[in-house]
This record gives sequence, structure tokens and C-alpha cells, in this order.
Amino acid sequence: MVDHVFADLSLAALYDSLNPWGPGDDFYLGLLREAGSVLDIGCGTGRLLRRARDEGHRGRLMGLDPAAAMLVQARRARPDVEWVLGDARVRRWQGEFDLVVMTGHAFQELVTDEEIRICLRAARAALRDGGRFVFETRNPGARAWERWTPDRVHEITAADSTPVRVWHEVRGGGPDRGRIRFTETYAGPHWPAPRVNHSVLRFLDAGTLDTFLAEAGLTVTDQYGDWNRGPLTDTSPEIITVARPAEAP
Ligand SMILES: C[S@@+](CC[C@H](N)C(=O)[O-])C[C@H]1O[C@@H](n2cnc3c(N)ncnc32)[C@H](O)[C@@H]1O
Repeated sequence: MVDHVFADLSLAALYDSLNPWGPGDDFYLGLLREAGSVLDIGCGTGRLLRRARDEGHRGRLMGLDPAAAMLVQARRARPDVEWVLGDARVRRWQGEFDLVVMTGHAFQELVTDEEIRICLRAARAALRDGGRFVFETRNPGARAWERWTPDRVHEITAADSTPVRVWHEVRGGGPDRGRIRFTETYAGPHWPAPRVNHSVLRFLDAGTLDTFLAEAGLTVTDQYGDWNRGPLTDTSPEIITVARPAEAP
């Protein structure tokens, strides 16, 4: 599901300022350096692939995203990466990638069981034998949404150097069947009115996640709870999963 924020050019242009490069990006960049060919599903503004190319990655890099406004940012910065508009159904995948990633919690944009199944089947089909699918989803046990409150205002600067204030507010008080509905509000002195974006993210527990992966023909080889490769616990912030194509029976 594509949030309006990702479909709006002026808001997509703010994405990288609002979500600065962090330890998760370093984690994935390390994996990209070891991989000859990489598919990034839900690549957004493409900053991971852009960075890999900037630092000399010479292999095949493909970024896939259904939000045209996000890909505009990506393409503008690095036309020498394959940027593909759409979700995982857009291609017939043929085992051509060493590494498939979903970063920046893009996996949580998959709200229905069907969206998850389609995406995981595509990731499996895109991997060569021995390739890896690596992605993260926020651990529901860490209850990150409890910190998405309007008093936590992020101050960022737009491309025209004007300040923008951004805050979040959870709707309905908490999870509803594993889904969190929330708003993201953008306000600035040069905007006639605040812009309010409505989003839904899904929070899956590790057991349910592993069941979806197995069903798609993927075997979990490693799971971490944080970007230092710490153990997954009931309350660790992330569920970071490394999976490989399952061996044929
Ligand atoms: C939070 S952003 C993360 C972007 C990027 N991976 C990063 O780390 O900066 C989530 C992205 O997932 C994309 N998305 C939404 N639904 C999707 C789907 N069904 N398949 C692939 N990507 C999707 C959105 O358009 C958005 O660009």
C-alpha cells in the first residue's frame, strides 16, 4: 500500500531529511558490498543503492517502488541504477539476484496477508540459489507506536531552506489486529495549512513471520534484535531476518 506521503513530490523530497542515514543503513550497505547483484524492494528514494553506487559498486542494482514521487528522487541522483516503478508483481523474477533487501521498515507497508505472500514469493523467485533475502520489521513487543506522539516534533529543513515541523499521532489508541493506524502531520511557515498523511503499518511477531517465510520457500538462517546483531528478544526493537531459498525436498 502506498502512503500519500510517498506519492507526493514535495513530501517525498523531505523523506531523507526526516529519516537520516542510520545504523540500519550501515548494516545493509555492508551486505551490498559483498553482493554482485542486488534488488531493493520498496527502495523509496533509493539512498541505499545510490550510496553503494557512489562508493563504487559495479554490479547490477535494481530499486523497486510503487511510489513514483520517491523514484523521482532516486533517478535524479543516480540514473545508472535500474529504478522500477511498481510492487513485486511488476516483473517475472528469474533467480537473478545475489541479495534481495527490504529496508527502512518497508516490509511493514505490506498490510494484508495477500500482500505479504505476493512480496515474499517474489523475493524468493528473484534470488539465485544460495542468495539471501534480508529485511527488518519492528518487533511488536517493543511497542514503538507508543512513542509516536504529537509532543515529539521533528524539525527538518526543506530543499528551499525553510523549516518544516513533523509529528505523528496514533489513531485508535493502539494495534488493531496487528495494524497501527497513524497520522503524520507536516507544517511549516510557508505552507498555507498543515498536510496530514494517513498511514497503516503492520506489526508481525517473529513466529507469524517465520510461517509466512516458510510458506514462500524461504528458510531463516539468522535473526537479530538490533543493528549490532544482538539477539532477538521479546522486547528488542527490531526483527531483522536473513533468509535463504529453502532446499528442495
Ligand atoms: C518507509 S519507506 C522506506 C524506503 C527505503 N527502503 C528506505 O529505507 O529509506 C517505505 C517504502 O515502501 C514502499 N511500498 C509501499 N508499498 C509497497 C509494496 N507493496 N511493495 C513495495 N514497496 C512498497 C513505499 O512506497 C515507500 O517508498
